[in-house]
Amino acid sequence: MQTSHAQWDDAADWYDQNMGETGDRLNSGIIRPLILDMLGDLHGKKVLDAGCGSGYVTAELAINAEKVTGTDFSANFIALCKKKYADRVNLDFTEHDITSPFPFDDTSFDAIICKMVLQYVPNIHTFVTETVRLLKDRGELVVVVDHPFRAAYFNAQSEDGPEDSLSSNRPRTKIGLWGETELTWYARTTSSYIQPFIDAGLQLTELCEPLEQTDSNNPIPFSVLALKFTK
Ligand SMILES: C[S@@+](CC[C@H](N)C(=O)[O-])C[C@H]1O[C@@H](n2cnc3c(N)ncnc32)[C@H](O)[C@@H]1O
Repeated sequence: MQTSHAQWDDAADWYDQNMGETGDRLNSGIIRPLILDMLGDLHGKKVLDAGCGSGYVTAELAINAEKVTGTDFSANFIALCKKKYADRVNLDFTEHDITSPFPFDDTSFDAIICKMVLQYVPNIHTFVTETVRLLKDRGELVVVVDHPFRAAYFNAQSEDGPEDSLSSNRPRTKIGLWGETELTWYARTTSSYIQPFIDAGLQLTELCEPLEQTDSNNPIPFSVLALKFTK
């Protein structure tokens, strides 16, 4: 089986084509307005977008922010972002795996966003401690993940077989990205996305769970768990 790194590297061009500059239906309709609202006014702020993918969110944040840095462990995503946004002076991109310390100084950022990444990461501990190190005082972190109730549903249906515990950190496989790509992911509970950040010293200041409209063709609504923490 491919590594998670290879899965994302291979998906980079396809992901970029499908997301474009505004995101697909769910991203543009549900996640984008939510995170822009949670981040608030970014004028004069330095922002880190951890796991930036094709960079369309990173680029949008840079319209108002003073400077935005996008990081991703996929060299293909980073190369694509550098090429697409070569003329944007307050945007830069760096290859980095979120399970290791970031190559940035302490208190470098006013805001950090990590959107739809942590469900694909085997261990979030380093990211948790790094966010505390990298944020300025009163800086804000916005984390968005696939909603854990969907993880529970997919866990129950999984070809790998359901598990007793959703927080075992066992890698699981799903067909993602518009049904085209095999992706390694981790089924976690809501508290396992919240408590580590609180234990590390951040305060949970907002929690949102937007729900897509359901119908008989779409009985399990798309939803995300969106969390805002303040240092
Ligand atoms: C669903 S995409 C989200 C991309 C972007 N945040 C967005 O919302 O469009 C997941 C991203 O996480 C990145 N990723 C997965 N595991 C990672 C890791 N360990 N370190 C850094 N990036 C990772 C992938 O390369 C991919 O770009």
